[in-house]
Amino acid sequence: MIFDLTEDHLMMRKMVRDFAEKECGPGAEERDENEEFSVDLWKKAGELGLAGVTFPEEYGGVGADYISYAITVEELSRVDASVGVTISAHASLCANPINMFGNEAQKKKYLTPLATGEKLGAFGLTEPMAGSDASGTRTTAVRDGDFYILNGSKIFITNAYYADTYVVTAQMDKSKGNRGIAAFIVEKGMPGFSFGKKEKKMGIRSSATYELVFEDVRVPAENLLGQEGQGFKVAMQTLDYGRIGIASQALGIAQGAYEQAMKYTKERVQFGKAISEFQNTQFKLADMATQIEAARLLVYQAAYLASQHKPVSKAAAMAKLFASETAMAVTTMGVQLHGGYGYTREYPAERMMRDAKITEIYEGTSEVQRMVIAASILK
Ligand code: CAA
Repeated sequence: MIFDLTEDHLMMRKMVRDFAEKECGPGAEERDENEEFSVDLWKKAGELGLAGVTFPEEYGGVGADYISYAITVEELSRVDASVGVTISAHASLCANPINMFGNEAQKKKYLTPLATGEKLGAFGLTEPMAGSDASGTRTTAVRDGDFYILNGSKIFITNAYYADTYVVTAQMDKSKGNRGIAAFIVEKGMPGFSFGKKEKKMGIRSSATYELVFEDVRVPAENLLGQEGQGFKVAMQTLDYGRIGIASQALGIAQGAYEQAMKYTKERVQFGKAISEFQNTQFKLADMATQIEAARLLVYQAAYLASQHKPVSKAAAMAKLFASETAMAVTTMGVQLHGGYGYTREYPAERMMRDAKITEIYEGTSEVQRMVIAASILK
């Protein structure tokens, strides 16, 4: 499949690349070192429209297609993968389920400020006992008049603490298994909703990751997203689209690491010549470029299908599986090409390798992607 990017895509790429290089690049190393989330960068990204790329203009979005979204996350992650995942978790996992399953009032109240970047979003699915087995949720929701009462906790939640709006799943009837789950829109500041442990992570250290704690949180009944019992499907469909975002993040990390390796190997002289002149280096760079090209085709293909409103489950899982394994392979080669310097924090190569690892884990591990692909090709 050959992709001709449109003028709009190319303009988007230039605009996001300029923003990433000018605004995100300079402090990336320091934010990683200090595990510091930048509210300022998030606000600036919002002002450029990056918080709502795919959402309809009537709800404050840009109304662009999914390839523009993939390019956005890719370009941010090429420079700083933490900024990339902040946008991806916000748009794919919080604003998008509200766009897909929300009623008119919910879209007006919650989607619009998310799409304009006025508010930041997050998604609460994972729990200590419900990781890959996402239907094993133990957080409960009990109907009480005009409210649902939520109790339980969620872990590893990207954007938590800083986010204003949360899409959260809870079990209403354990006997019904995944069909007993419901999804809710929960606001920061609702009494009983608090934040627990902040995770200390290997990579994407300047993205925020916290535990959510619900203690008798009274969520208005109008904040039910979709129907009671539909929450698991809300989560699965959300993740189908979300995986395009993480695949784009992985692609951007790989591209960034490749460019860094290219630059370094042209400058680094050993045995009297630039190490890029050695065949070992050239073969590694050739492998990196080939894998990135293949990943990009899968990612843009999944994004294209999403824009066409065609089924994306398999394509998104393939894109995420391949792009995340590419990111890991390419960043590892990148560190190797930097030699001893690659193992230090003097160069971004080691940060990129640490950042790459999570793309094989979150929004479904590589093993979960293989489950989704296998289920699709065998059915
Ligand atoms: N779209 C709509 N419905 C779907 C669906 C999809 N993509 N996938 C499954 N379903 C439906 C099925 O049709 C089925 O419906 P019925 O009960 O009506 O028949 C139901 O859901 C159950 O399906 P399965 O039996 O296939 O479900 P399962 O329990 O075997 O789980 C799984 C399948 C793919 C392993 C799923 O649990 C999964 O994706 N797990 C990984 C969870 C995950 O990705 N977590 C990431 C957390 S978010 C995160 O990481 C954010 C971050 O930090 C950035």
